[in-house]
Amino acid sequence: MWREAIQQILIPEAELQRRIRSLGRAITADYAGKELVFVSVLRGAIMFSADLARAVDLPLTIDCITLSSYGDRHVSSGRVHVLKDLADSVADKHVLIVEDIVDTGITLQHLWQHLMAHRPADLHVCTLLDKRVRRQVELPIRYVGFEVPDAFVVGYGLDYRQRYRNLPFIASLRPEVFAEDSRQLSGCPAREHG
Ligand code: IMP
Repeated sequence: MWREAIQQILIPEAELQRRIRSLGRAITADYAGKELVFVSVLRGAIMFSADLARAVDLPLTIDCITLSSYGDRHVSSGRVHVLKDLADSVADKHVLIVEDIVDTGITLQHLWQHLMAHRPADLHVCTLLDKRVRRQVELPIRYVGFEVPDAFVVGYGLDYRQRYRNLPFIASLRPEVFAEDSRQLSGCPAREHG
């Protein structure tokens, strides 16, 4: 059974939803009187952006971006490019990047530079999870849902080899899952980020 790969539930569903409602209230207060653009980073931030958008009581639009990175299946290698860009211009808009997790910060740094080149009125970041201990690039993150330890986590949009996104909670995976994988992996094909 695929659920047997899960080691531990780190953030249960009710806690996730409570925190998202509180982030929504903070965003609503901070952007009062403004119209907001959510830039949802696919695919990992799908669930989070959908729930967060419903917790924000402001006029807002949602756009999506798909980034790619190269590396094996649970380690980011630091090379990122845009696979699928935003549909609309963010020039002069109040833009909030909605991310699933910030790990080394390398992906966010690329995205930040990409969006700043389009001259938004302002740009901020909201991430559900922050794996602070692994940070290599520091960027200001205005909203953080939860800090997580240095473990590979899945669920609520986050995947391992595209699985586990539909779990309603955040969980760690058993180390055997990765061990099994590294035996099978030799090359490191391009993969979609998130
Ligand atoms: P960074 O560039 O190292 O900050 O990595 C950011 C991206 O790596 C995230 O948006 C995820 O796609 C992926 N990632 C990093 N850590 C995890 C994790 O624990 N679980 C699932 N994906 C992760």
